[in-house]
Amino acid sequence: MLKTKGLEGVVATTSSVSSIIDSVLTYQGFNIDDLANNASFEEVIYLLWNGRLPKQDELNLLVEELSENAFIPEAILDQIKTSPVEIVHPMAALRSWVSSLALYDEEADDMSEEANRRKAIRLQAKIPTIVTAFSRIREGKDPIAPNKDLSYAANFLYMLTGKKPDEISVNAFNKALVLHADHELNASTFTARVCVATLSDIYSGITAAIGALKGPLHGGANEAVMATLIDIGEVENVESYIRKSLDNKEKIMGFGHRVYKDGDPRAKHLKEMSNQLTVITGEKKWYDMSAKIEELVTNEKGLLPNVDFYSASVYHSLGIKHDLFTPIFAISRTSGWIAHILEQYENNRLIRPRADYIGAFNQKYIAIHSR
Ligand code: ACO
Repeated sequence: MLKTKGLEGVVATTSSVSSIIDSVLTYQGFNIDDLANNASFEEVIYLLWNGRLPKQDELNLLVEELSENAFIPEAILDQIKTSPVEIVHPMAALRSWVSSLALYDEEADDMSEEANRRKAIRLQAKIPTIVTAFSRIREGKDPIAPNKDLSYAANFLYMLTGKKPDEISVNAFNKALVLHADHELNASTFTARVCVATLSDIYSGITAAIGALKGPLHGGANEAVMATLIDIGEVENVESYIRKSLDNKEKIMGFGHRVYKDGDPRAKHLKEMSNQLTVITGEKKWYDMSAKIEELVTNEKGLLPNVDFYSASVYHSLGIKHDLFTPIFAISRTSGWIAHILEQYENNRLIRPRADYIGAFNQKYIAIHSR
């Protein structure tokens, strides 16, 4: 019987989507460093879904399809407007409206490969529109329609703010999307695969994955990191704050990883971006505090920052509301979830492990009046 808590070290499937070997992350065999430095997020979507980089005409077609499908049904906008937007967390909202999308897709339960590929495009295209519409509606503003002349990264920032974003912001945001796109059998991807391995539909798989990503031990950590930085306030408070947290055996959000023990290869890119962007915004303290926390946590606990740690100060520097950090992660990771869902359908078997039973035996039913 399996006794590994949290399935640590358990190999649960084969996959050719992404790999983590000796702390090197690859998407379809391409080193993440290479992609982060060179690729557009649209190219990465194509790569994850097709196993190779697109030719120019293939990329053009994908960009066009994403753009054409970026609008969300009016009924969903109405649902957002009538929901308690001022109190609901955007991840709960995203989980709900992604599920709602299926209600307006007549192919929702068509399990053919062609229909699944069309639904993949629709989901990837509409998720940023849902997040930005939600964000604007709760601020009492009108949602902004997607602009077909903008890239995926630029369009998100545009729909969020209503202003055409500058090149530095677009490049930084594109890189963040590339870095978060896939990550082998992480908790949310595993969730997606378990869900669709019952031959449930792609909307169910993505909805389930969003639920798993929401938690602070997974994608929710990036928002928690920003809360920690704000709580600390200034660089001179870092040492006492972190020492106290460690003494109290509290977890420092954005540190540690189940798979990487020599460091998360995505973190260095985000660290560099955080350094550059905080100089531009004139709020260098977020980077300085983060770097100081890293130094302390690494020296004291031997723990290294994961993808969520420096992404917090990166997104903050891009002017993004802190509770949208995890939805942004979901926007990017949808590309990876879809790649894994399509792979699961291709060679499916129900995922149904066993539990090692540690409960009572030989219990006998006692009538309620005698208990
Ligand atoms: N701060 C302080 N101590 C930590 C941290 C941390 N961030 N992470 C791990 N540890 C300690 C644990 O307390 C534990 O110590 P112990 O053996 O003395 O009890 C030991 O390191 C092992 O930690 P586990 O929690 O058992 O490691 P696991 O592999 O189960 O968890 C996880 C990995 C969830 C990422 C963990 O490191 C953590 O909670 N980090 C903070 C949350 C976070 O940043 N999550 C995002 C991860 S990346 C992503 O999902 C996108």
